Amino acid sequence: MNLIIGITGASGVKLGLKLVDLLPSHIKPHLILSNSAKITLQYEDNQDISAITNKKNLVLYDDDQIWSDIASGSYKADAMIITPCSMNTLAKCVTGISDTLITRAFSVMLKERRKIVLSPREMPYSTISLENMAKLSMYGVVIAPPVIGYYSKQQTLEEMENFIIGKWFDLLDIENNLYKRWIGK
Ligand SMILES: Cc1cc2nc3c(=O)[nH]c(=O)nc-3n(C[C@H](O)[C@H](O)[C@H](O)COP(=O)(O)O)c2cc1C
Repeated sequence: MNLIIGITGASGVKLGLKLVDLLPSHIKPHLILSNSAKITLQYEDNQDISAITNKKNLVLYDDDQIWSDIASGSYKADAMIITPCSMNTLAKCVTGISDTLITRAFSVMLKERRKIVLSPREMPYSTISLENMAKLSMYGVVIAPPVIGYYSKQQTLEEMENFIIGKWFDLLDIENNLYKRWIGK
């Protein structure tokens, strides 16, 4: 499975990187960090991402590489997730602006009617952003912000992050046991 992962400059870049890290080996990650994502990561975490980006089958792109394979519908990408998705990228996606590799890949996946999951991160959301999300939802994009549930009885931040990533994996049809599912009473 070819999975495109766009990481933009919203809070929680670390969570996007953790998603990449937890991907099973049969998934081929195509990873793009926006310039703002790199700046945000420095502020929030200052994490060395080489352990993740050196993964054996990972392809890493710069956000200005608009000549890349994934910028074309002829490349058979199966699904795309943008996480975290900034309000800036959200607004570009809804209007069809494709001036970066992340937004171009999004436009391509949309026109090809392929699976897209977007995780907009902001608190609270402006009416503009809520309208943008509603429009994208009507176009078939799954809007899945990084919101935790408590029914898995998570005790640690690690477990809460795994819960959110497990829900994203579910949406992308990636088998996982990252969180305890609700099995009823
Ligand atoms: C530390 C930090 C945290 C940020 N958090 C958010 C956020 O949660 N949501 C958001 O929409 N923008 C956030 N921003 C602002 C975006 O980075 C900014 O709008 C940027 O232009 C987004 O560019 P991009 O969409 O190309 O990544 C944050 C910026 C910094 C430096």
